[in-house]
Amino acid sequence: GAPVEVDLSKMESGQLLRVAWRGKPVWILNRTPAALETLKAMDSFLSDPNSKDSIQPDSSKNPVRSIKPEIFVAIGLCTHLGCSPTFRPEIAPHDLGPDWKGGFFCPCHGSRFDLAGRVYSGVPAPTNLEIPPHRYLKDTLLLIG
Ligand code: FES
Repeated sequence: GAPVEVDLSKMESGQLLRVAWRGKPVWILNRTPAALETLKAMDSFLSDPNSKDSIQPDSSKNPVRSIKPEIFVAIGLCTHLGCSPTFRPEIAPHDLGPDWKGGFFCPCHGSRFDLAGRVYSGVPAPTNLEIPPHRYLKDTLLLIG
């Protein structure tokens, strides 16, 4: 499939964009400062906090799993059996557990991922959400693929 260009110039803080690439949903999330703050205290809740067993390009091998700290790009498919998780940015809603800090929830079998797509421990999904190859053509122009 062809690479996909995405204009981020009108994106607002907290907004999630959904695009398609190679027939898969790709999410682009503009993380708020509060969202980025949550990522610093997640390790003890996660299966693979440093993404050693997960798929991402070298440019996203860092604690926030992204090139620019605020812009998170991921393939929107659960690494368990491929359902598409829902975006649940709110911090600590009781139905998702006392350790919930915002992220993505898979309705199929209850896998939970944080706002860097890192999987919580004790859920069926074995690895973090996959990050596709991507780069910036200009400051607010993203190329996926
Ligand atoms: Fe997401 Fe099973 S497909 S938890």
